This record gives sequence, C-alpha cells and structure tokens, in this order.
Amino acid sequence: MVSETMKEAAKIISDAEYMVALTGAGVSRESNVPTFRGADGLWRNYDAMELATPHAFARNPKLVWEWYTWRQGLIAECELNPAHTTIADWEANGVLNHLITQNVDGLHRRAGSENVLEVHGDLWATKCISCDYQGRLDSPAEGIPICPECNNMLRPDVVWFGESLDSRIMTRVHEELASADVCLVIGTSALVQPAASFPLVVKHSGGKILEFNVERTPLTPASDVHVSGKVGEILPKIDKLLTNLS
Ligand code: OAD
Repeated sequence: MVSETMKEAAKIISDAEYMVALTGAGVSRESNVPTFRGADGLWRNYDAMELATPHAFARNPKLVWEWYTWRQGLIAECELNPAHTTIADWEANGVLNHLITQNVDGLHRRAGSENVLEVHGDLWATKCISCDYQGRLDSPAEGIPICPECNNMLRPDVVWFGESLDSRIMTRVHEELASADVCLVIGTSALVQPAASFPLVVKHSGGKILEFNVERTPLTPASDVHVSGKVGEILPKIDKLLTNLS
C-alpha cells in the first residue's frame, strides 16, 4: 500500500536540488544485522562499556576482538536488502548526492554506494594501537591481529564510546550538509551525537528532513515528513513513485 506520507516524501525527493542521507542500523535490520537499541538490540545483551571503549580494549583485547570477529562473521554471511540497493540506485541515478552512515557493516558500499562517509568507521578496517599502520581484514579476524610493522596489537578502526569522530570526515560531512536542501534520515534512533544532529544543520538552513523508521525518534518533531514502516519495504515503493513523477 502507498500512503499519503510516502507520496509527500516522493514529491520532496523529486523536487530536491541536493540530497543527502543519514543512515543507521535500521537499514541493515532486514539483512539480519542486529541493531544496537530496541528489544533485540546489541546493547540489550552486551555491555557497551565492556566492548566498545578504549578502556575495555586495554583491559581485555581478546574479548573485544572476539565480539568484533563474531560481528564480522555475521556480516560476511548476510545479504543486502532493498533499502541498501534502493539507496545505491538513487546515487547512481543522481537522486542522492551523498550518504552519511553510522553503520560500520560496509553494506552500503557492497550495494554499490560510492559517495559514502562512514562516520563511525568500518568493521573491516584496523589500526595499530602504537604506530601509524592502518590495514583491512578480508575475512573475520582470528585472535588478536598483530601489526605487520611494529608487532603491537591492531584494533578495529571504529569509533568507540568516548572517542571523537575523524576530523577529516567531519569536515566532509559539514560540506555535504551545507550543500543540501533535503536530508533523508533512514533507520536511526537519532540518539547518538553528533550524528543525530546532522539533519538539523540542513533544517536550520531552510532545508527539509524526511524520516523513515518503524518508530518515532527525537528527530521526528523536526521532520517535514515521517514515513512509518520497514525501510526495505518503504524505499522501493517511494522509488516507484519517483519513476511516475519523472
Ligand atoms: P539504533 O539501534 O540505536 O537504532 C536503530 C533504529 O532503526 C531504531 O530507531 C529502529 O526503530 C530502527 N529500525 C529497526 N529496524 C528497522 C527497519 N526495518 N526499518 C526502519 N527502521 C528500523 O542504531 P543507530 O541509530 O544506528 O555507534 O545507532 C547509532 C550508533 O549507536 C551506532 O552507530 C553505534 C551505536 O552505539 C557506535 O558504535 C559508535
């Protein structure tokens, strides 16, 4: 079924001059990648402070790597869903200019999205805890990966609680937000800063926010349209509406 809110969203997308999107774990939920919050979210069953902080890694690097290896295994096995492919198609067709994602699963790139800013890092990337070495794993880690240059431990190159976002990526994010007149907010609880405030930058400069989520979020009141439902189902329907509008 096509709702009135989907029609409103399609009209705003088709009228956009420069559109960016902010995505979160909800985009990968229909690929069976667990989200962080909610009934079956990772932070319900695991303690973020034991697994996703620099202090946790210093205390027990083996435990932290085991958790990342488990997640890498899940992602290696999972399939893309229509939300990933529709977002990639929108970039290829010139509908979407740039994607800002909080996801570390790499599924947007696997779907073909190229203009992607991964603000929380990449689950497959590694960096040395002591020298400047940065690398990539092409399969789930075995034990604690070791730096080929200095023999110290490698850690996942993701942003942990208490760490800042990469300043070069943040500069690019702000360039994109400054250019945009529409920001899609797709499958994020909008609870983690600074990412949760990115769409407000677009709104405050006169642009529009379109939110797609199964629940309301702190960004819902600021959204011009909130489309309720699973993004793997909603985005392809909106894509069809766009075809009819063009
Ligand atoms: P959350 O787990 O906080 O939120 C996922 C959102 O997706 C929720 O609002 C759900 O309602 C929504 N959702 C779930 N399934 C959906 C579906 N099929 N269609 C539409 N929406 C759906 O994940 P994020 O907002 O991405 O940070 O979390 C932000 C950050 O918190 C993560 O990047 C991670 C985490 O701690 C770091 O690790 C630094």
